[in-house]
Amino acid sequence: MWLLGIESSCDETGVALVQTQAGDPLPRLVSQALYTQAAMHEAYGGVVPELASRDHVRRVLPLIHQVMQQAKQPLSAIDVVAFTRGPGLAGALLVGAGTACALAASLGKPVIGIHHLEGHLLSPFLSADPPEFPFVALLVSGGHTQLMQVDQVGQYTLLGETIDDAAGEAFDKSAKLMGLGYPGGPALAALALDGRADAFPLPRPLMHQANLDFSFAGLKTAVLTQCQKLGDELPARKADLAASTQAAIVEVLVKKSMRALSQTGLKRLVVAGGVGANRTLRAQLETACLKQGARVHYPEADLCTDNGAMIAMAAAMRLGAGVEQADHHYAFDVLPRWPLAQHTSVV
Ligand code: KG4
Ligand code: ZN
Repeated sequence: MWLLGIESSCDETGVALVQTQAGDPLPRLVSQALYTQAAMHEAYGGVVPELASRDHVRRVLPLIHQVMQQAKQPLSAIDVVAFTRGPGLAGALLVGAGTACALAASLGKPVIGIHHLEGHLLSPFLSADPPEFPFVALLVSGGHTQLMQVDQVGQYTLLGETIDDAAGEAFDKSAKLMGLGYPGGPALAALALDGRADAFPLPRPLMHQANLDFSFAGLKTAVLTQCQKLGDELPARKADLAASTQAAIVEVLVKKSMRALSQTGLKRLVVAGGVGANRTLRAQLETACLKQGARVHYPEADLCTDNGAMIAMAAAMRLGAGVEQADHHYAFDVLPRWPLAQHTSVV
C-alpha cells in the first residue's frame, strides 16, 4: 500500500510517500520533499500566518509531483492520502487538508487526518534505528514540550508538559533577544559552540520539583536581564550567553527525561520534535541514559523538524494497527487546537 503524507501546519510544506508491504515490520519511506518558508518569515521575526498559507498553496502541488517522480510512481498508485489535521495555523492546515481531500477525491481514494504531534511521536520509526514499544517520548518542538508514555500506536499517556513556553520557544525567544534572527534555535546552538556553558548562572525552573512539568518563560526574562546588563559588551559575550542559555534548557530536559524513565520503569527514551536536532541535548541524553542503563533513540536530524514523512508514517502505523480507518469523506475540517487526548487514548 502506498500512502502520501502532506504536512502544512506551520511554515514547512512537507510531502512524502511511504509504502507498507505484507511481511515488512515497518512502513518504508520511499521519497520525500520539503520546502521551508523560514527565509520568508525571517524579515518579520516570526511566522506570519497569512503568508504561510499563501506559500503552502504555491508549494504543495509541485512537491507532490516531485515526490511521485522520485518514487517513479504515477499519482494513481496512491492508495491513501494523509494530511495534518491539527494542531497548527488554521489557514496553513486548510491548504494541506484541501489539497489532500481534492487529490483523494479525484483518485477515488480514502483520506486520513493525522495529529501533528503523533507524527512527531512516531517519527523515530522512520530512523535507521527504530525503537520498540513501550517507550518514553520527549517531544520538544517550537510549540510543545511534553513527556509521554507511548505503549502502542494510539496509546499515549501524558506524563508532564510545559506550563508556559515550549523548549523551542525558549531557544527562539532567547535567540531573538541576542539578535540571532528567526528561527533562532539552530543559530543559538551554532553560536553556543564558541561559548562557555557556565559563563552565566541562568535559572532551571521546576528542575528540582518531583513532577515532570517544565517552565521556560522565566528563562527568557533572565536572558533579557543579562542582555540589558551586558549592554555594549553583549556582542563580545554573546557566545557565552548562548552556551549558558542552551545549557539551562538542555539540563532541565535531560533531568526530567531521566525522571520520567525512573518513574515509569521504562528503559527506552525517544526524542522527537525540532529541538531534538540539538546536538548538545543529544549528547547529554546519551550520557545520562547510559548511566541509567537506558537507550535513547532519535529520528535523523532532518526528520526531527516538521516533514511529510512523519505524517505518512503515522497514517501507515494507525491503519496498520487498526486504530483507525481511512474514509472517503472529503468534506474536510481542520483542528488548530487539537489536544492529542481527543485523538487517542491519552490518560
Ligand atoms: O518540530 P518543529 O520543526 O516545529 C514545530 O512543530 O514547532 O520545531 C521547530 C523548533 C524551533 O523552535 C527551532 O528553533 C527548534 O525547533 N530547533 C532547534 C534546533 N533545530 C530546530 N532548537 C535548538 N537546536 C537546534 N539545533
Ligand atoms: Zn512540529
